[in-house]
Amino acid sequence: MKKLAVAAVILSSISSSAFAHEAGEFFIRAGSATVRPTEGSDNVLGSLGGFNVSNNTQLGLTATYMATENIGIELLAATPFRHKVGTGPTGNIATVHHLPPTLVAQWYFGDAGSKFRPYVGAGLNYTMFFDEKFNDTGKAAGLSDLSLKNSWGAAGVAGLDYLINRDWLINASVWYMDIDTDVRFKAGGVQQSVSTRLDPWVFMFSAGYRF
Ligand code: NI
Repeated sequence: MKKLAVAAVILSSISSSAFAHEAGEFFIRAGSATVRPTEGSDNVLGSLGGFNVSNNTQLGLTATYMATENIGIELLAATPFRHKVGTGPTGNIATVHHLPPTLVAQWYFGDAGSKFRPYVGAGLNYTMFFDEKFNDTGKAAGLSDLSLKNSWGAAGVAGLDYLINRDWLINASVWYMDIDTDVRFKAGGVQQSVSTRLDPWVFMFSAGYRF
């Protein structure tokens, strides 16, 4: 009986430490992150309709610190996203790059003994645009000096961690980011500014490692 009780205690301590997101724990996830803009903008040059912006997939990385077994602080980072920008009549006229680092506070449902940890979070996004360039089509139309204003906005996330063992997990998450910018350029030498919202959904599938 005593041996059985000891075995039960050992087993229960193994199973409760086998799955975690415990206070003080740190974990990272890496995987694919796809940015799908839900774009809309003022009319470009009055007549071309709004800008459209292509999807893009890059390597996404998250770093998460668990303040308690339910409250996490997470930073999302990625390799630079690259989008083609155009209008209906012109097709693609430009390429832009951006980095959208995002910091969120999260609530993880369940407890440190749960294998499935769904979560929601909210926080702040900062998007840096860089390497904005008109392509030959844009240049031939007399467009130059493209720049996009960096953006601060709210962000939200919902996701699910499946804890495989003490070290590894798999994850699926969806983010929404409020990204609004002014697209500035010259058309025939005349300065233009078109306020544009990207407000993308970001879909991430990743594997995680817990320290
Ligand atoms: Ni917006």
